[in-house]
Amino acid sequence: MKKITIAIDGYSSTGKSTVAKRLAKHLGYLYVDTGAMYRAIALFALENGLISKTHCNQKELIEKLPEITLYFQLNSETGIADMFLNGKNVEKRIRSLEVSQYVSRIAEISEVRKKLVEQQHKIGKQKGVVMDGRDIGTVVFPQAELKIFLNAAPEERARRRFKEYIDNGAEVTFEEILKNVMERDRIDTTRLDSPLVKAKDAIELDNTFTNKEDFFQKVLQLTKDRISGHL
Ligand code: DC
Repeated sequence: MKKITIAIDGYSSTGKSTVAKRLAKHLGYLYVDTGAMYRAIALFALENGLISKTHCNQKELIEKLPEITLYFQLNSETGIADMFLNGKNVEKRIRSLEVSQYVSRIAEISEVRKKLVEQQHKIGKQKGVVMDGRDIGTVVFPQAELKIFLNAAPEERARRRFKEYIDNGAEVTFEEILKNVMERDRIDTTRLDSPLVKAKDAIELDNTFTNKEDFFQKVLQLTKDRISGHL
Protein backbone atom coordinates (compact mmCIF):
# COMPACT_ATOMS: atom_id res chain seq x y z
CA MET A 1 0.00 0.00 0.00
CA LYS A 2 1.14 3.57 -0.71
CA LYS A 3 2.95 5.09 2.28
CA ILE A 4 2.24 8.68 3.21
CA THR A 5 3.43 11.32 5.66
CA ILE A 6 0.97 12.21 8.42
CA ALA A 7 1.37 15.48 10.32
CA ILE A 8 -0.55 15.87 13.57
CA ASP A 9 -0.31 19.35 15.07
CA GLY A 10 -2.23 21.17 17.74
CA TYR A 11 -2.38 22.64 21.19
CA SER A 12 -0.70 20.92 24.13
CA SER A 13 -2.51 18.00 25.77
CA THR A 14 -5.10 17.63 23.02
CA GLY A 15 -4.36 13.91 22.68
CA LYS A 16 -2.00 14.28 19.69
CA SER A 17 0.52 11.73 20.89
CA THR A 18 -2.10 9.18 21.98
CA VAL A 19 -3.76 9.15 18.58
CA ALA A 20 -0.47 9.47 16.65
CA LYS A 21 1.12 6.51 18.48
CA ARG A 22 -1.87 4.27 17.93
CA LEU A 23 -2.18 5.27 14.30
CA ALA A 24 1.50 4.58 13.64
CA LYS A 25 1.23 1.17 15.31
CA HIS A 26 -1.90 0.32 13.33
CA LEU A 27 -0.29 1.29 10.00
CA GLY A 28 3.20 -0.07 10.78
CA TYR A 29 4.53 3.50 10.43
CA LEU A 30 7.25 5.25 12.39
CA TYR A 31 5.97 7.52 15.17
CA VAL A 32 7.95 10.66 15.97
CA ASP A 33 7.13 12.80 19.02
CA THR A 34 8.82 16.10 18.16
CA GLY A 35 7.72 17.63 21.49
CA ALA A 36 10.07 15.13 23.18
CA MET A 37 12.99 16.67 21.26
CA TYR A 38 12.16 20.21 22.47
CA ARG A 39 11.66 18.83 25.98
CA ALA A 40 15.10 17.15 25.89
CA ILE A 41 16.74 20.48 24.98
CA ALA A 42 14.81 22.15 27.83
CA LEU A 43 16.10 19.48 30.21
CA PHE A 44 19.64 20.07 28.96
CA ALA A 45 19.23 23.83 29.59
CA LEU A 46 17.90 23.19 33.10
CA GLU A 47 20.64 20.72 33.97
CA ASN A 48 23.30 23.13 32.78
CA GLY A 49 21.86 26.13 34.62
CA LEU A 50 21.07 27.93 31.37
CA ILE A 51 17.43 28.72 32.14
CA SER A 52 15.63 29.93 35.24
CA LYS A 53 12.27 31.54 35.98
CA THR A 54 13.64 34.97 35.16
CA HIS A 55 16.39 34.38 32.61
CA CYS A 56 17.42 32.24 29.66
CA ASN A 57 21.06 32.25 28.61
CA GLN A 58 20.25 31.80 24.94
CA LYS A 59 23.77 32.67 23.79
CA GLU A 60 25.41 29.87 25.77
CA LEU A 61 22.69 27.38 24.90
CA ILE A 62 23.14 28.14 21.19
CA GLU A 63 26.91 27.69 21.55
CA LYS A 64 26.34 24.33 23.24
CA LEU A 65 23.85 23.01 20.65
CA PRO A 66 26.52 21.09 18.68
CA GLU A 67 27.29 19.16 21.90
CA ILE A 68 23.70 17.91 22.13
CA THR A 69 22.93 14.53 20.59
CA LEU A 70 19.32 13.39 20.52
CA TYR A 71 17.95 10.10 19.32
CA PHE A 72 14.96 7.83 19.81
CA GLN A 73 15.42 4.18 20.79
CA LEU A 74 12.69 1.58 20.87
CA ASN A 75 11.75 0.46 24.39
CA SER A 76 10.92 -3.25 24.06
CA GLU A 77 8.68 -3.16 27.17
CA THR A 78 6.42 -0.32 26.03
CA GLY A 79 6.86 -0.78 22.27
CA ILE A 80 7.38 3.00 22.02
CA ALA A 81 10.62 4.86 21.32
CA ASP A 82 12.25 6.57 24.32
CA MET A 83 14.10 9.87 24.04
CA PHE A 84 17.86 9.78 24.63
CA LEU A 85 19.87 12.91 25.40
CA ASN A 86 23.65 12.54 25.02
CA GLY A 87 23.35 8.77 25.44
CA LYS A 88 21.05 8.86 28.51
CA ASN A 89 17.43 7.77 28.56
CA VAL A 90 15.52 10.92 29.61
CA GLU A 91 12.02 9.73 28.69
CA LYS A 92 10.71 10.06 32.26
CA ARG A 93 12.46 13.27 33.16
CA ILE A 94 11.31 15.21 30.09
CA ARG A 95 7.66 14.64 31.11
CA SER A 96 8.02 16.46 34.47
CA LEU A 97 6.01 19.59 35.20
CA GLU A 98 9.30 21.46 35.59
CA VAL A 99 10.32 20.71 31.99
CA SER A 100 6.77 21.55 30.82
CA GLN A 101 7.12 24.95 32.47
CA TYR A 102 10.32 25.82 30.57
CA VAL A 103 9.98 24.06 27.23
CA SER A 104 7.95 26.70 25.36
CA ARG A 105 10.63 29.30 26.06
CA ILE A 106 13.25 26.93 24.63
CA ALA A 107 11.07 26.25 21.58
CA GLU A 108 11.06 29.99 20.78
CA ILE A 109 14.78 29.95 19.95
CA SER A 110 15.30 29.80 16.17
CA GLU A 111 18.66 28.00 16.38
CA VAL A 112 17.05 25.25 18.48
CA ARG A 113 14.22 24.91 15.96
CA LYS A 114 16.66 24.79 13.03
CA LYS A 115 18.63 21.95 14.61
CA LEU A 116 15.53 19.93 15.44
CA VAL A 117 13.73 20.52 12.13
CA GLU A 118 16.84 19.28 10.26
CA GLN A 119 16.82 16.11 12.34
CA GLN A 120 13.06 15.66 11.85
CA HIS A 121 13.51 15.95 8.06
CA LYS A 122 16.10 13.18 8.14
CA ILE A 123 13.97 10.91 10.33
CA GLY A 124 10.84 11.36 8.22
CA LYS A 125 12.16 11.52 4.70
CA GLN A 126 11.26 7.91 3.85
CA LYS A 127 7.51 8.51 4.33
CA GLY A 128 5.50 6.00 6.34
CA VAL A 129 5.72 8.35 9.30
CA VAL A 130 3.30 9.89 11.79
CA MET A 131 4.89 12.99 13.33
CA ASP A 132 3.24 15.11 15.99
CA GLY A 133 4.11 18.61 17.13
CA ARG A 134 3.21 22.25 16.46
CA ASP A 135 4.77 23.01 13.06
CA ILE A 136 4.82 19.67 11.27
CA GLY A 137 2.20 20.52 8.64
CA THR A 138 3.39 24.11 8.22
CA VAL A 139 7.20 23.93 8.40
CA VAL A 140 8.63 20.42 8.75
CA PHE A 141 6.53 18.58 6.16
CA PRO A 142 4.37 21.15 4.33
CA GLN A 143 3.88 18.50 1.62
CA ALA A 144 2.45 15.92 4.06
CA GLU A 145 -0.43 14.06 2.41
CA LEU A 146 -2.54 14.21 5.58
CA LYS A 147 -2.52 17.06 8.08
CA ILE A 148 -4.60 17.04 11.21
CA PHE A 149 -4.92 19.97 13.59
CA LEU A 150 -6.20 19.20 17.08
CA ASN A 151 -7.91 21.45 19.55
CA ALA A 152 -9.84 20.96 22.81
CA ALA A 153 -11.04 23.20 25.64
CA PRO A 154 -8.14 24.23 27.95
CA GLU A 155 -9.96 22.98 31.09
CA GLU A 156 -10.45 19.55 29.56
CA ARG A 157 -6.83 19.39 28.41
CA ALA A 158 -5.65 20.38 31.89
CA ARG A 159 -7.99 17.82 33.47
CA ARG A 160 -6.49 14.98 31.37
CA ARG A 161 -2.92 16.10 32.01
CA PHE A 162 -3.63 16.48 35.75
CA LYS A 163 -4.96 12.91 35.90
CA GLU A 164 -1.81 11.63 34.17
CA TYR A 165 0.43 13.39 36.71
CA ILE A 166 -1.59 12.14 39.67
CA ASP A 167 -1.63 8.57 38.29
CA ASN A 168 2.17 8.78 38.10
CA GLY A 169 2.42 9.90 41.71
CA ALA A 170 3.37 13.53 41.02
CA GLU A 171 2.42 16.23 43.51
CA VAL A 172 0.74 18.90 41.44
CA THR A 173 -2.46 20.91 41.64
CA PHE A 174 -5.07 21.28 38.90
CA GLU A 175 -4.55 25.07 38.96
CA GLU A 176 -0.81 24.64 38.26
CA ILE A 177 -1.53 22.40 35.29
CA LEU A 178 -4.23 24.68 33.87
CA LYS A 179 -1.89 27.65 34.20
CA ASN A 180 0.85 25.70 32.39
CA VAL A 181 -1.48 24.63 29.56
CA MET A 182 -2.66 28.23 29.02
CA GLU A 183 0.81 29.72 29.26
CA ARG A 184 2.17 27.23 26.72
CA ASP A 185 -0.74 28.02 24.37
CA ARG A 186 0.14 31.70 24.63
CA ILE A 187 3.87 31.25 23.95
CA ASP A 188 3.42 28.57 21.26
CA THR A 189 0.90 30.67 19.27
CA THR A 190 2.65 34.03 19.56
CA ARG A 191 6.34 33.17 19.04
CA LEU A 192 7.96 34.69 15.95
CA ASP A 193 9.51 31.50 14.53
CA SER A 194 7.06 28.79 13.38
CA PRO A 195 4.16 29.66 15.70
CA LEU A 196 1.45 27.11 16.28
CA VAL A 197 -1.04 27.77 13.50
CA LYS A 198 -3.32 25.51 11.51
CA ALA A 199 -1.99 24.79 8.01
CA LYS A 200 -4.48 25.90 5.35
CA ASP A 201 -4.98 22.34 4.16
CA ALA A 202 -5.16 20.74 7.64
CA ILE A 203 -8.33 19.08 8.88
CA GLU A 204 -9.29 20.59 12.23
CA LEU A 205 -10.73 18.28 14.86
CA ASP A 206 -11.99 19.16 18.32
CA ASN A 207 -11.24 16.53 20.91
CA THR A 208 -13.08 18.01 23.92
CA PHE A 209 -16.00 15.61 24.08
CA THR A 210 -15.03 12.63 21.91
CA ASN A 211 -13.98 9.41 23.63
CA LYS A 212 -10.58 7.94 22.74
CA GLU A 213 -11.94 5.07 20.65
CA ASP A 214 -14.30 7.21 18.54
CA PHE A 215 -11.58 9.76 18.05
CA PHE A 216 -9.09 7.16 16.88
CA GLN A 217 -11.64 5.65 14.46
CA LYS A 218 -12.29 9.08 13.00
CA VAL A 219 -8.59 9.74 12.41
CA LEU A 220 -8.10 6.23 11.02
CA GLN A 221 -10.92 6.75 8.54
CA LEU A 222 -9.40 10.05 7.39
CA THR A 223 -6.09 8.25 6.92
CA LYS A 224 -7.59 5.39 4.94
CA ASP A 225 -9.46 7.84 2.72
CA ARG A 226 -6.28 9.79 2.10
CA ILE A 227 -4.21 6.69 1.37
CA SER A 228 -6.72 5.41 -1.12
CA GLY A 229 -6.99 8.85 -2.65
CA HIS A 230 -10.71 9.35 -2.00
CA LEU A 231 -10.45 12.57 -0.04
O1 DC B 1 3.91 18.22 22.47
P1 DC B 1 4.59 18.64 23.78
O2 DC B 1 3.66 19.22 24.78
O3 DC B 1 5.44 17.57 24.35
O4 DC B 1 5.59 19.84 23.33
C1 DC B 1 6.38 20.51 24.26
C2 DC B 1 6.66 21.93 23.79
O5 DC B 1 7.53 21.91 22.66
C3 DC B 1 5.44 22.74 23.38
O6 DC B 1 5.03 23.61 24.42
C4 DC B 1 5.90 23.52 22.18
C5 DC B 1 7.15 22.88 21.71
N1 DC B 1 7.04 22.23 20.39
C6 DC B 1 7.26 23.01 19.29
O7 DC B 1 7.45 24.22 19.41
N2 DC B 1 7.28 22.44 18.05
C7 DC B 1 7.05 21.14 17.90
N3 DC B 1 7.08 20.60 16.66
C8 DC B 1 6.79 20.32 19.02
C9 DC B 1 6.78 20.91 20.26
